[in-house]
Amino acid sequence: MKAIVQTKYGSPDVLRLENVDMPVAKDDEVLVAIRAAAVNIGDWHVLRGVPYVVRAAMGLRKPRRAVPGLDIAGKVEAVGANVKQFRPGDDVFGWCNGAFAEYACTAEDNLLPKPANLTFEQAAAVGDSALTALAAVRDQGKVQSGQTVLINGASGGVGTFAVQIAKAFKANVTGVCSTKNVELVRSLGADQVIDYKKEDFTQAGQRYDVLIDLVGSHSLSDCRRVLSPRGTYVVVGVKDMGRWFGMGRQAKALLLAPFVRQRMRVFVVKHSREDLTVLKELVESGGIAPVIDSRFTLEEVPDAMRHQGEGHPQGKIVIAG
Ligand SMILES: NC(=O)c1ccc[n+]([C@@H]2O[C@H](COP(=O)([O-])OP(=O)(O)OC[C@H]3O[C@@H](n4cnc5c(N)ncnc54)[C@H](OP(=O)(O)O)[C@@H]3O)[C@@H](O)[C@H]2O)c1
Repeated sequence: MKAIVQTKYGSPDVLRLENVDMPVAKDDEVLVAIRAAAVNIGDWHVLRGVPYVVRAAMGLRKPRRAVPGLDIAGKVEAVGANVKQFRPGDDVFGWCNGAFAEYACTAEDNLLPKPANLTFEQAAAVGDSALTALAAVRDQGKVQSGQTVLINGASGGVGTFAVQIAKAFKANVTGVCSTKNVELVRSLGADQVIDYKKEDFTQAGQRYDVLIDLVGSHSLSDCRRVLSPRGTYVVVGVKDMGRWFGMGRQAKALLLAPFVRQRMRVFVVKHSREDLTVLKELVESGGIAPVIDSRFTLEEVPDAMRHQGEGHPQGKIVIAG
């Protein structure tokens, strides 16, 4: 089968489309014929091995996993002896190791039936970013009906889901994005949109119950100033992670937490079938819909990664065809 292979850390130029052995499903695994995959900012970090802390988990000198990519949607090709929930021919979505390929094996618990109202491309887009948005809004922000929520970075992979999920939780949502994305963020249901090219959300005199920060464009003290006295600051990620640790803001927020009344929340998303089920139900009820920025073929994965690395996708970049 064809797959994108990464044998070293570096720029998108290190990625090669190669013929590799077909994976074989173990007893509790499903072999999926991948119809679409989605690109995540995490794929960009693993590609470059930066911040260097990534290498502690992914391989010190070179990536342990030859084929990158996480989120998939496709058709079940074969199942292992112990697989109970799927049969060949089923349409599925979920996550695996090695999504940028024609086929991948993954545990049956990493998959769910594909939402009937989504294409394979849309279903692949409901992966890591949507799981992160759900964790940020529901578990970390503990967003309740009627609360005011500011989402800084509302137009990207995580942000487009976070706006919709916060609206599904009946919050009053303000999205921060650049001029070209104002209409998109409004169309996702945001009650207010702040164009960061024209206005600084920390200077507008508004206070919010929850600030979900996907960018880290302002200092921690500026962010705290726009929170209500018992508001919650959720650090999802920062745009400029630096070369080494990449968690400076998270560390600062955690150190501050015991000394302030506002809640400081830091997390790393965990993929769970339960959460994917929640997202599937939200998708099927029309509560959320993935936003597709652009489509690339498997051969064009290096271009897709370059685009992701530039840091301005409008929703999700998908690989299909
Ligand atoms: N904690 C976790 O487990 C976890 C999991 C996944 C992701 N993350 C983190 O979450 C963050 C967002 O990820 P993502 O996948 O959504 O990234 P993304 O798809 O690359 O989107 C980034 C977005 O940030 C916006 N942006 C850039 N500068 C901005 C500014 N100054 N103010 C407001 N918006 C700005 C861009 O919009 P414009 O084009 O309008 O500038 C773009 O839409 C990243 O830092 C990532 O590392 C964390």
